[in-house]
This record gives sequence, structure tokens and C-alpha cells, in this order.
Amino acid sequence: MSHTIPGANRTPFEIYLAWSDVTLRVEAYQSALQVLLTAGIPIEPGCEVGGCGSCATDFVEGDVIHMDGCLSPVDRVHTFCPCVSRARTRVVLAL
Ligand code: FES
Repeated sequence: MSHTIPGANRTPFEIYLAWSDVTLRVEAYQSALQVLLTAGIPIEPGCEVGGCGSCATDFVEGDVIHMDGCLSPVDRVHTFCPCVSRARTRVVLAL
């Protein structure tokens, strides 16, 4: 398991919902999953610690910092786990 301090190395980033032209901001203290659920995106939360893949969400653009322990390198090209993962750039989601 990770020994990082919760909240360390977290910077805010944005998620852009291409289908509705909406930009969501993920603050340092939030998970992307929290923000997406609040926005009404139908994601099934599971473990919320990056272990189950239940929240796995496709993205089309963005430099994601993958912090899950369940996706394969191939999955990670266009899928991330918003419960734990962050991003260095804006992340674009499309239907
Ligand atoms: S809820 Fe389990 S990996 Fe995100």
C-alpha cells in the first residue's frame, strides 16, 4: 500500500465534459469521483481506493496520473479510476 500522506502532491485539475461543454474543477481536497458524481455522471462507486475498477471511466484526452492498482497499462491509455487518479492537464471525457 501507499505510504504517501493523504492530500500530498495533490493539485487541482479540470475535467471537461465534451458532450455538454461543461468544465468541472477537481480541487486538491476532492477526488475526481466526488466531482463527477456531484455533476450527475452515472459512475458506480466501489472501493474508492483504486482497487476494484468499478469507477473506471473512459477519457479521450489528458495527462492522467494513474494511482489505481487495478487497470492494466493498456486500459490506462484511455481509462482512469477517478476515485484516486489525478491529472497534470485537463481531462476530456466524451460519450
Ligand atoms: S471505486 Fe474501486 S477503483 Fe475506483
